[in-house]
Amino acid sequence: MTWLITGGAGYIGAHVARAMADAGERVLALDDLSSGVAARLPAGVPLVHGSSLDAGLLKRLLAEHRVTGVVHLAARKQVAESVARPGHYYAENVGGLATLLDAVAEAGIRRFVFSSSAAVYGDPGLDLITEDAPCAPVNPYGETKLAGEWLVRAAGRAHGIATVCLRYFNVAGAATPELADTGVFNIVPMVFDRLTRDEAPRIFGDDYPTPDGTCVRDYIHVADLAEAHLAAARRLTDEGVHGDLTLNIGRGEGVSVRELITVIGEVTGDRRPAVVEARRPGDAPRAVASAARAARELGWTARHGVREMVASAWQGWLLHHAGPASATP
Ligand SMILES: NC(=O)c1ccc[n+]([C@@H]2O[C@H](COP(=O)([O-])OP(=O)(O)OC[C@H]3O[C@@H](n4cnc5c(N)ncnc54)[C@H](O)[C@@H]3O)[C@@H](O)[C@H]2O)c1
Repeated sequence: MTWLITGGAGYIGAHVARAMADAGERVLALDDLSSGVAARLPAGVPLVHGSSLDAGLLKRLLAEHRVTGVVHLAARKQVAESVARPGHYYAENVGGLATLLDAVAEAGIRRFVFSSSAAVYGDPGLDLITEDAPCAPVNPYGETKLAGEWLVRAAGRAHGIATVCLRYFNVAGAATPELADTGVFNIVPMVFDRLTRDEAPRIFGDDYPTPDGTCVRDYIHVADLAEAHLAAARRLTDEGVHGDLTLNIGRGEGVSVRELITVIGEVTGDRRPAVVEARRPGDAPRAVASAARAARELGWTARHGVREMVASAWQGWLLHHAGPASATP
């Protein structure tokens, strides 16, 4: 097998590339470097610089490298930007996927793993969200992921491609400091950013119907997430596997924003109290995965807890923002 990892120079993609290469899989990456960093890729994993919207490039690279499976992570992922530029998000995330799936079908590739998101659910109001919960995304980013899943399944049926859609919950942490997320879009780096600026962390709303009034989320270590991709790829490699699978990738454990900020205070040594601000529109009170199906189908469960996520993310933050290597790539 040779696996193409789109978005392989990104935060999650580089972890997936590393986990798969370490496990002995042959992998190469495609990335337009719009938010990716080439240096994140491990030695021995070639990077093709280009876009998933470039049909000619895709055709050439799939043939030249004799690709037999694809893990598609390339996408734009900022919710606020998706609200401001929905056309761009649909073009990149859905258009890029459609172009890629056409090239995959034409090349006779029969295995495809798609990066989806818990954002497809919106706010189903469930204690544990199973994959059968209704999907009602509340922003264009989530819509592009849901439309992407539909497209993946339709292409799978039309062209006989076995597919897995992985719905990631809240991703955090780093396998090594160099691979840490350099963006400030998720809660852990957002709190680090506030502390680094000598400002108190912010909590958006503490009057939700949750035990401490703050939103509850399911955090997953990016190294565990990478292992889930390896398990999905291996599952697709098994003889006779066909059809589609849709799987939550989470820990099945809720952590409130206040609890997370407490852990961040313990890890960083900066325990200043958070300030409470108004709720943000579109934040669901609770989003926690049922992780049972992934365990059953992939034999995969997360191994790392929240403290390990925060501690590893903090090491990465120090490397990229405060340490001697503060010349962030
Ligand atoms: N980070 C999260 O919490 C999270 C949660 C759920 C789902 N996801 C999904 O996981 C995937 C990876 O996210 P990430 O956090 O690593 O983000 P990232 O921005 O670090 O990675 C995305 C990568 O894709 C590349 N890219 C973007 N558009 C491209 C295109 N058209 N062609 C080629 N390359 C392109 C970027 O340069 C980048 O390297 C995305 O599909 C995202 O929607 C992320």
